[in-house]
Amino acid sequence: MKGQMEKKIRELKQQKNAIILAHYYTPAEIQEVADYIGDSFYLAKVAKQSDADMIVFCGVSFMGESAKILNSNKKVLMPDITADCAMARMVKEGKIEEMRAKYEDLAVVCYINSTAELKCKSDVCVTSSNAVKIVKNLPNKNIFFIPDKNLGRFVAEQVPEKNIILNDGYCPIHVKILTEEVLEKKGLYPNAKVLSHPECEQRILDISDYIGSTAEIIDYAKNSDCKEFIICTEDGVRYQLEKDNPNKNFYFTRTSPCCQDMKLNTLEKLLRVLETEENQVELDQEIIKKALLPLDKMLELAK
Ligand code: 13P
Ligand code: SF4
Repeated sequence: MKGQMEKKIRELKQQKNAIILAHYYTPAEIQEVADYIGDSFYLAKVAKQSDADMIVFCGVSFMGESAKILNSNKKVLMPDITADCAMARMVKEGKIEEMRAKYEDLAVVCYINSTAELKCKSDVCVTSSNAVKIVKNLPNKNIFFIPDKNLGRFVAEQVPEKNIILNDGYCPIHVKILTEEVLEKKGLYPNAKVLSHPECEQRILDISDYIGSTAEIIDYAKNSDCKEFIICTEDGVRYQLEKDNPNKNFYFTRTSPCCQDMKLNTLEKLLRVLETEENQVELDQEIIKKALLPLDKMLELAK
């Protein structure tokens, strides 16, 4: 059954000149058939540069929306159009306008994990793999970082010369990772290195050996001489970590973090959208025009 579905997916992909993009948090069965797997930054770049007629984005809504904004003449489909990021709307109504009125020289820096509407009100987008570099190079002293307070705080630590104003958003999956559970694993595997995503809370980052995006965590584990790792991010990364490193061990915390929205991407749904071309990402032309500016600026400044 699985083999048959994979075969049909491959055939349809060729017939329709489609590419499948998948985030590292999607289920293994999706990563197995994807043409490109990566972190948000890598996938945004692939979407921008693609000359395929159709992009099937296996991820959550902000990823599908970004792909559409960056390549608006393409059909962008999602296996499950309801897959959403819980953090994407976590900015209070009127807060951006309030900050702009308060600080003359303000840059609104928007984590890509946000709605297209929030991107329209922002000066530049960032992802977890380029946020430090981009914020460092902005001419502005005052930065309003939305929506994630944890990534914002991580950036503020790396770029102390800026006044970074934090917003009260967070990823409900990453903030559930408990210090006790990481320390418990560290007690069991004292030689293991702790690798964490910057969406984790400060108390987790304080006991981490390395902090990076999903792709950076995967690269770090691959290039390290260490054989054991405690991973503090969503458990979808396990697939690539174990594939790349059959002789290394990866431990997750007891309450293994799982983003249910990412898991809405299934092989059945992927096949169905390729067949029917339903679940297209649709955005207003005006929104595409406005949201493209901060996304393009990100791609430019991250070079
Ligand atoms: P990355 O850009 O590191 O892949 O992160 C995306 C994300 O949603 C983390 O929760
Ligand atoms: Fe959003 Fe968190 Fe899921 Fe990432 S893990 S997509 S930040 S809810």
